[in-house]
Amino acid sequence: MTDRYLTKSLAVIAMMVTPLLAQDPPPQAPPRQHPAPKNLKLLTPAELMPAMRSFTTALGVKCNFCHVEGNFASDDKPEKETARHMITLARDVNSKFPDGKMHVTCYTCHRGSTEPAMAPEGGPAPPAGAPPPPPPPAQ
Ligand code: HEC
Ligand code: HEC
Repeated sequence: MTDRYLTKSLAVIAMMVTPLLAQDPPPQAPPRQHPAPKNLKLLTPAELMPAMRSFTTALGVKCNFCHVEGNFASDDKPEKETARHMITLARDVNSKFPDGKMHVTCYTCHRGSTEPAMAPEGGPAPPAGAPPPPPPPAQ
């Protein structure tokens, strides 16, 4: 490598680097914004993120249980469509309470699991209309 070549190369590098060094420090990053939702059929944009957080807690899952990685608007995962049915189901039940308040949430049934328990642990559910089971024996 000749000296001349070296000098020229250094000059080129200096030209490339100088504008980077000359830049002002980047301004404070703005707060992270969610892109506007494109595929809402039931929730309002204001309801969306609180609902999503409550779903993950209620079912004990991460976002990708219902969502295709990197594409929240996609309906390709059947769990997302099931969740829509469940939103309607919960709204329906709540609309039947006479006081107009919300009493039933995803957590009411799910309790941190994707499959709500159908019976108490260790035994089948009593048939409908059966008398209540006897109290557990005193210890
Ligand atoms: C139990 C299933 C479920 C889980 C878990 C879940 N979501 Fe959702 N998500 C949905 C459903 C259903 C909709 C569509 C609601 C509608 O149609 O109004 C949705 C819609 C969205 C949208 C709007 C997409 C668009 O462009 O229309 C975003 C963003 C989103 N979810 C983010 C999240 C994030 C972030 C998490 C994790 C914190 C999460 N979701 C967890 C079911 C879920
Ligand atoms: C009245 C009780 C009840 C309520 C309320 C309820 N669910 Fe469910 N959910 C169930 C039952 C029962 C299943 C079926 C589980 C199975 O297949 O074993 C289920 C299944 C699901 C599944 C599918 C799970 C899987 O393994 O594929 C999703 C997703 C779901 N629920 C989301 C929700 C969301 C979100 C809410 C609140 C908006 C909600 N559920 C409210 C009872 C309920």
